[in-house]
Amino acid sequence: MEYVILDGEILNRKEAKIDIEDRGYQFGDGVYEVIRVYNGTMFTRNEHLHRLIESAEKIGMKLPYTLEEMGQQLEELVEQNKLRLGTVYLQFTRGVSPRGHAFPSSNVPLTYVAYTRTVPRPASDMETGVKTITNEDIRWLRCDIKSLNLLGNLLAKQKAKEAGCFEAIGYRDDIVTEGSLSNISIVKNGKVITHPANHFILNGITRQQVLQLCHNNGIPFEEKTFTLHDLFQADEIFLTGTTVEVMPIVEVDGKAVGAGKPGSTTKRLQQLFKQEIINQCGGLE
Ligand code: PDD
Repeated sequence: MEYVILDGEILNRKEAKIDIEDRGYQFGDGVYEVIRVYNGTMFTRNEHLHRLIESAEKIGMKLPYTLEEMGQQLEELVEQNKLRLGTVYLQFTRGVSPRGHAFPSSNVPLTYVAYTRTVPRPASDMETGVKTITNEDIRWLRCDIKSLNLLGNLLAKQKAKEAGCFEAIGYRDDIVTEGSLSNISIVKNGKVITHPANHFILNGITRQQVLQLCHNNGIPFEEKTFTLHDLFQADEIFLTGTTVEVMPIVEVDGKAVGAGKPGSTTKRLQQLFKQEIINQCGGLE
């Protein structure tokens, strides 16, 4: 896309340059968000910006803009780029200063970057369901922070890709945590079960929306840990995330999930989620 935000200003992409001593570049010292755009409108924008502010606070960074100011700037960016269906990416890093592990002085301004991208909905994967592998979750213990440090996630996703799979399902000891870029839920006897929102997972906005939909529509659900054994015994499994929406899993480590096709609770949640997008954004395209 043609326009980007750099430090609060909308610029032509070619004019936006980052210093080689930016702490995001050198240390991954920063936080980010990915927000879906449907019908030219950001979906759950405020929830994402709220989480960004929280992630920043958790690493001792105070953002120089309010949620409303960021919201307004991003709306302008979406409009200037004429984005209809895609994503907004934004990140803040702890600014530019000579390399050193301790934080620079608090008057060093944070670096703020945002850009948009056209991305279709993953329609065919959502229809057929996807294959996955299980993979030991080797990430740090503050996965609740949406930090730029994603190496553990990247290694997991690459392993899935090399296995011809869509996602890697993380586990610690034998507790299932989350995917490399998505949360995971199982369905057992009609009940949706997903890992509690603590420091072992990112509390996905899509996850929260789906739990709210369960609540509003009388679908039983519980936020509790489940094991690899529970995973393999599940009737249905699905992923949730900004880019994957509600994604059925039909295979784990080469074994079929339930009947080997998307299950009825997952399909119902897909429908409810689609309707929620239409309600909030006025359309899906
Ligand atoms: N990933 N867990 C992890 C580790 C994630 O990176 C993400 C999102 C999620 C789902 O969160 P949400 O529903 O708020 O998107 C869960 C984004 C999309 C990414 O890094 O591209």
